[in-house]
Amino acid sequence: MSKKKIKEIFIGSNNEGKLKEIADLLPKSLKIYSNLDLKIPSPKETGTTFKQNSLLKAKYFSKKTNKICLADDSGIEIDILNKAPGVYSADWSGKKRNFDLAIKKVYQEISKKNKNWKKKKISARFICVLTIFWPNGKFISKTGKIEGWISNLKRGKNGFGYDPIFIPYGKRLTFGEMEPKKKYKIDHRSNAFRKIKKFF
Ligand code: IMP
Repeated sequence: MSKKKIKEIFIGSNNEGKLKEIADLLPKSLKIYSNLDLKIPSPKETGTTFKQNSLLKAKYFSKKTNKICLADDSGIEIDILNKAPGVYSADWSGKKRNFDLAIKKVYQEISKKNKNWKKKKISARFICVLTIFWPNGKFISKTGKIEGWISNLKRGKNGFGYDPIFIPYGKRLTFGEMEPKKKYKIDHRSNAFRKIKKFF
């Protein structure tokens, strides 16, 4: 990896929610390129771990753009579902990326495991692996996590994806109800970002 501070970067994601969060984490002086204009199709996420998929995306977009690229692979692990949906978190929302559907599926799958689950604390965590990939082939990947519970009701309109059903440990609000700034301070993405911050 390069010791020089990164001055410009391509964010390799077609997920607008993520794109916004990642851009908000980066210093304002950095020139950010995103895929909103280029619309390069996303690669197939063939990895079985967050790390594999994060690297695969960062490398793919760096090769396509010849720029230093930052990519994220993330998702939610629910312990009672043996850590599903995990790397398949986006897939559970179907082709149209409908997260009402994904959340319905989460509730159905948890009910199959335990009918009384609403009276229990269902532990879960968000995980994020951020990878910076340089055009010379060097890369760095770092993982961030946040532990919490699954809310038995969908609550809040902020954020994206599974935010309305995730309550971080020690909080009452779901990520969907939390002010975005408060979410960013504690979430899996900012946690991973702190570990790569020195490159910017
Ligand atoms: P992928 O990294 O493109 O495979 O997608 C990860 C999926 O995990 C997203 O589509 C979201 O549904 C979910 N996810 C990741 N991070 C978050 C988050 O911060 N809030 C809510 N959902 C998230």
